[in-house]
Parts: sequence; structure tokens; C-alpha cells
Amino acid sequence: MNNPELYRKANACQRCDAQQIIKEYFPQLNWNGKDSLIDLGTGSGDVLMDFVHPSLPCNFQRLVGSDINPKMVDYAQHEYGHHKNVEFRILDMATRKNLPIDLRGQFDHVTSFYALMYASDLRQTLSNILDLLRPDAGGDCLLLTLIHHHVYLSYKILAAMDKWWKYMYNMDSYIPPQIYWKNPMHKFENLMFGSGFSECHVDIQSKIFTYDNVEVFRTNMEAVCPFLPRIPQTLQSEFMDDLMYHSFQIIGINYYTMNRRAISPIPHRVAVIYARKLGQIGLK
Ligand SMILES: C[S@@+](CC[C@H](N)C(=O)[O-])C[C@H]1O[C@@H](n2cnc3c(N)ncnc32)[C@H](O)[C@@H]1O
Repeated sequence: MNNPELYRKANACQRCDAQQIIKEYFPQLNWNGKDSLIDLGTGSGDVLMDFVHPSLPCNFQRLVGSDINPKMVDYAQHEYGHHKNVEFRILDMATRKNLPIDLRGQFDHVTSFYALMYASDLRQTLSNILDLLRPDAGGDCLLLTLIHHHVYLSYKILAAMDKWWKYMYNMDSYIPPQIYWKNPMHKFENLMFGSGFSECHVDIQSKIFTYDNVEVFRTNMEAVCPFLPRIPQTLQSEFMDDLMYHSFQIIGINYYTMNRRAISPIPHRVAVIYARKLGQIGLK
């Protein structure tokens, strides 16, 4: 995911889900009026600034957007860095190194929208989230992550094809283990409690996002496809055609004969995880 402008242009589905979750869950967060919040995997920054930022208490102290990709951080900094008490930082949420001193234990809230599924090590990421929260006042986190999408099955089909396999090495590391979990609610709860959270609520939601047309869906898939940068530019369009063909075939639609200008409803499944750090039980 190397192109912030492309992602920003085509992230309607991610924006829609994040907006709904923020509206639903933010009133339940443990606000103190002078809150500090860090978001992990902030990407182009628009979800953070369009939905999280306006939902913070007006006297919030600090809002940090973070991402592993310097291009995303530069873009977000350029677009939104001028806002008061807002900063953007490079951070690998799954890092095994010590968290930077000015981030560790500094936050009342941690959020992450559509990014947890990219973390190379989920347990380490959850432990880092716990460490980002203040040691004294506890704190809470709200995480939205994808747990099922047809595109992952399409990746597998393409990786078995002669023309694409050589560009899709390490494919399994780009497919989140969550899509194989039989009981994601139970699994996430166990992981959260195992990481040291004292309270946890997991909601599994099946969703259908209606893209304005097929091209918008294709651009979204292009923006998030981890294999595209490995493919020569002259073959990228053919790769996307194949990816679209198989993604639609899975839901019984022929990509080549369908009306590409018609709205395109695409199903997916997400997990919404809300958890509190020790010391916060029963406060709200
Ligand atoms: C699909 S985008 C989501 C962006 C934004 N949160 C939104 O909802 O539109 C996922 C982002 O996670 C970032 N990312 C992937 N792995 C990461 C990691 N280990 N640590 C931090 N960010 C990561 C990617 O660079 C990308 O910007």
C-alpha cells in the first residue's frame, strides 16, 4: 500500500465502516476531557481527521496518527499536520523493539481502523497497544479489522496461476490468519485477555458495501493490493483484470459481461474490538 493518493481516492468502504463504528462506540470510551489518542495504521489520515478528530473532547491534549509506511505519514502530515495538537509518526504497530519513549504509556485511547489485519504479529501488536496506554489511568482501545473478504480467496487462485505465482511469493504472510478462524469472537477475546486487557467486547459484523460502480471497487483493491508493486507496469492491468474476474466469480458474477457502471454490492466481515486496560472495570 504505497500510494496515499490512490488509497484516499478509493477508500469509501473503509471510511463508511470506520464512521459507523466511531459513531456507535466513541460515546462508550472512557473520556476524561483532556484525552490523548493514538491511531495505528492511519494511512492517508482522512478517517482520523474526518471522524476521530471531530469526536474528541474539545480540550483533547494530543492526537497521534501513525503508520509503518513513511509515504502515508508524509502525506497525512502534509494534509493535516497543521491542526493543533495533531502529529503523524512512523510506527510499526507490531514492533518487537521498545516503543518510542514519548509514545509508551502516554495515551488514554488507542484506535485502529482497517489496519490490524496487516500486522505481522497480532500478539505483539496487542501487547504494544497495552503498552501505549497509560500505566496509571488505564485506558481503552477500539479496533476495527477485516476478518473476511473474497479478495483473499482470489489472491490464492492467482498465486496458483503460471503467469502470477512468481510475483506472489510469501503470499501467506499477506493473508491474515483471522480469515481462517472458526470462532473469531472467542479467539479475539482470548487474545485480548491473554495480552493483559481486563475487559473486552468483540462484535463480529457481516457487511455489504455498495460501491458506486465496479471501477471504484477495482481502484480500492488496486490501492490495497500488496503484490502490485512487484508486477511490471505493463502487466498490472491484466493482473487487476484477473483479480476482479475471480473476485466476482466467487459471488457468481461474470466480470466481463456484467454492467461495470452499475452499483456493485460487495460483502465482507469485520471484527470490532473494544477493550480496557486494568483499573478501568466498571468506570462506565
Ligand atoms: C487499509 S489502510 C487503513 C488506513 C486508515 N486507517 C483507514 O481506515 O482508511 C491500512 C494502513 O495500515 C498500514 N500498516 C500496515 N502494516 C502496519 C504496521 N505493522 N504498523 C502500522 N501501520 C501498518 C498501511 O501502511 C496502511 O496505511
